[in-house]
Amino acid sequence: MKKIDVLVTGGAGYIGSHAVVELYNSGYRPIIVDNFSNSSIKNIEGIEQIINNKVVFHEFDCTDEDQMNELFKIESNIEAVIHFAAFKAVEESVREPKKYYCNNIGSLEVLLKTMKRYKVNNIIFSSSCTVYGSPDILPVSELAPFKKAESPYGETKQLCEKLIDKSDINSISLRYFNPVGSHETCLIGDCSADKPNNLVPIICEVASGKRDSMQIFGNDYNTIDGTCVRDYIHVVDLAKAHVAALNHILNSKKIKTAYNIGVGKGVSVQEVVDSFEQINDIKISYKIGPRRAGDVEEIYSDNSKINKELKWFPIMSFGSALKTAWIWEKNK
Ligand SMILES: NC(=O)c1ccc[n+]([C@@H]2O[C@H](COP(=O)([O-])OP(=O)(O)OC[C@H]3O[C@@H](n4cnc5c(N)ncnc54)[C@H](O)[C@@H]3O)[C@@H](O)[C@H]2O)c1
Repeated sequence: MKKIDVLVTGGAGYIGSHAVVELYNSGYRPIIVDNFSNSSIKNIEGIEQIINNKVVFHEFDCTDEDQMNELFKIESNIEAVIHFAAFKAVEESVREPKKYYCNNIGSLEVLLKTMKRYKVNNIIFSSSCTVYGSPDILPVSELAPFKKAESPYGETKQLCEKLIDKSDINSISLRYFNPVGSHETCLIGDCSADKPNNLVPIICEVASGKRDSMQIFGNDYNTIDGTCVRDYIHVVDLAKAHVAALNHILNSKKIKTAYNIGVGKGVSVQEVVDSFEQINDIKISYKIGPRRAGDVEEIYSDNSKINKELKWFPIMSFGSALKTAWIWEKNK
């Protein structure tokens, strides 16, 4: 049977590469487009080793209309797009907001225009729990309002969701909580060029000696141990959520919706550090520092909508995420 073509923008990146593997394993033909602004050919090679096959790949920039036109001309059977391509470093977005508006919103605008021109009607968008800001009710559900964004990065995610809502194509926005870990082979992972901003990659850098020590920002929050609480989702579970969303969108006549992708349970920063030490049998040097501006005290997902509607459930353990994250760091 002929495979369905799915364009995966940012498919050489951390989450995109995992999604490409799961799409391939589920019988789709993923077509990667990436400009390598924050990834490496290592992930393409890793994907090919995992699937034991070549993967279709185009080095184009999603903000370039001519290049996107050319891409849709070459790949004329695309039925859906999964749009991962974006910049994601929250702190950098505060320093260089324009870079984030241009790339994150610009790439979506060009993509929507090109999709319309080539009559491709389905998009799955990489959104984030950052759209909720600091939510009033926990666990946070998809019905929670968008609060004032904490950063230009967060603003781009809110604006992109709104742009997609206004378009007349079928769409599913997936609001990721905190992706962690790597594929069991540890052949693909986060190849970010810049310094990591996320907790687990920072812990890995301390473990490897790239950093001497790390700071926990505040231990006086109103949480179980005083440190901030987040919802950590294994990247392989997250990748599988894209397959579930794709199956759903391709079988729907008209759809515009959003799903939270999280485990539905909060884990504190202190618990993450302690678990990492225990699982990987390694000591992490850290200090407790003051609170950091812009940090949300506690956020974790209500994932019941996707459980019910798409029958997607997270199954990977937090321990395996911490193990594979560490192996990926050592292999980098
Ligand atoms: N990692 C997280 O913690 C997290 C959390 C919530 C949401 N997200 C979103 O998920 C998506 C993927 O995140 P990730 O962690 O895999 O990031 P990543 O940086 O590893 O992957 C993004 C990929 O997009 C590519 N890219 C960026 N701009 C491009 C452009 N204009 N044209 C072509 N390719 C381009 C990069 O080279 C990279 O390979 C992003 O949209 C991000 O905002 C990530």
